[in-house]
Amino acid sequence: MNKNKIHLKAPGNWINDPNGFIYYKGNYHLFYQYFPYAPRWGTMHWGHAVSKDMVNWEHQGVALFPTKYEDQNGCFSGSAVEHDGILYLYYTGVHYNQPDPNDIHQCLNDDFSSAQLMMTSQDGIHFDNFHDKKVIIPPITDRKIGDKTHTRDPKVWRGKDAWYMVLGSKTLDDKGELIFYKSTNLSDWELVNTVSKESGLGGMWECPDYFDTEGGKVLVMSPMGITEDETLEKNHSVCTIVDFEEETCTMEIPDTYQFLDYGLDLYAPQSALDEQGRRVLVAWLRMPEPVDGTWRGMFCIPRVVEVKDGHIYFRVHPNIEKLYTRRIANAAEADSAGYKVSFDIGDGETVNIGGYKITRNGNRICTDRNGVFPKNTNFRMQLSTPEVKDGFHLDVYVDANLIEVFVNRGEYVISNAVYGLTNEIQADAMEKIAIDTLE
Ligand code: FRU
Repeated sequence: MNKNKIHLKAPGNWINDPNGFIYYKGNYHLFYQYFPYAPRWGTMHWGHAVSKDMVNWEHQGVALFPTKYEDQNGCFSGSAVEHDGILYLYYTGVHYNQPDPNDIHQCLNDDFSSAQLMMTSQDGIHFDNFHDKKVIIPPITDRKIGDKTHTRDPKVWRGKDAWYMVLGSKTLDDKGELIFYKSTNLSDWELVNTVSKESGLGGMWECPDYFDTEGGKVLVMSPMGITEDETLEKNHSVCTIVDFEEETCTMEIPDTYQFLDYGLDLYAPQSALDEQGRRVLVAWLRMPEPVDGTWRGMFCIPRVVEVKDGHIYFRVHPNIEKLYTRRIANAAEADSAGYKVSFDIGDGETVNIGGYKITRNGNRICTDRNGVFPKNTNFRMQLSTPEVKDGFHLDVYVDANLIEVFVNRGEYVISNAVYGLTNEIQADAMEKIAIDTLE
């Protein structure tokens, strides 16, 4: 299988969040949370991949790794910006005050400190982990501002008059919180404001991302504990349209939100501007077990974020969409990078793609992966969109371990990890099913 076409996959062992996503000097750079020693989470490095088109990805090895007291136990998530040709990386360094003596990649009693660090690169290829790191925000000591342990994931952007940074944190009473900083030189950062919600919206807010679009200002974040079922995953990414006043970093976050993706497997998304200035976003696909016993974790298709009439759409990036030009009669003829299945679905109809079932129930699109997923995990097996408004057209992108169901060209998306798909596609009305693959 072509491992890194369409979807960027772990080069082996473990990856989680996308980091430092940027179009820089003619290439897309995508870094990622990487544990190089086993297919499970542990001491975090930043792996690095580059691409000319966000279709073909090439792994570049490790860009960031622990070298300082502050990042001794991991280089956690962060972001990238360019200024005067230089690439600036921002990330969270963690230091375990109580490493687990039996597994030094884990911390005991949640006793660790988090600092914010930066590092630069002249070309996006060379990173000097020994000499180029700088602590820009030490662990927070004033609990009224944020949490010394759970403050992380700097997202930096260029505003009108300055550079801005948002961090995820939690309030004194354990509600999710954003902390905003400002800088004129990318190196000295001044606290501007903290934002939380009276009603909560989960606990700590991981991986915040803020950006403006033509149709509205968007906040994307990953609140911990936003769903309540004890036996199932509780941390999920959400997005919502916000009011934001840049200079004072005042943000009004409404009570209503959309899940980023209704498969509830994608997490910790990060956005960047593409070559043509579109807002494009990728996210980590959580996977319950390694593939072939060797690799675990991949990213979804890059999605263009658009806001229309108060709704946030996630459209397949045109670089990917335009590749599926070869019509085939069945999935067995598909390219190793996968295929796309397109159809309009009638009420009560089911389309079964290799064991993954998609059904329309009234105005909702529902999926069931019981046939193609390990049993007894904390992942959800049956998923559903809210009521859709724009029609009942589905474009389903199928790769060996990830199915992405784009409903009405991104009104909602359900993306799910899958294991052991067959090549068989079954539908009540096969004649209306189109299957396309790469040339
Ligand atoms: C989200 C997250 C981030 C953190 C990173 C550590 O998945 O928990 O908040 O920086 O992963 O790997």
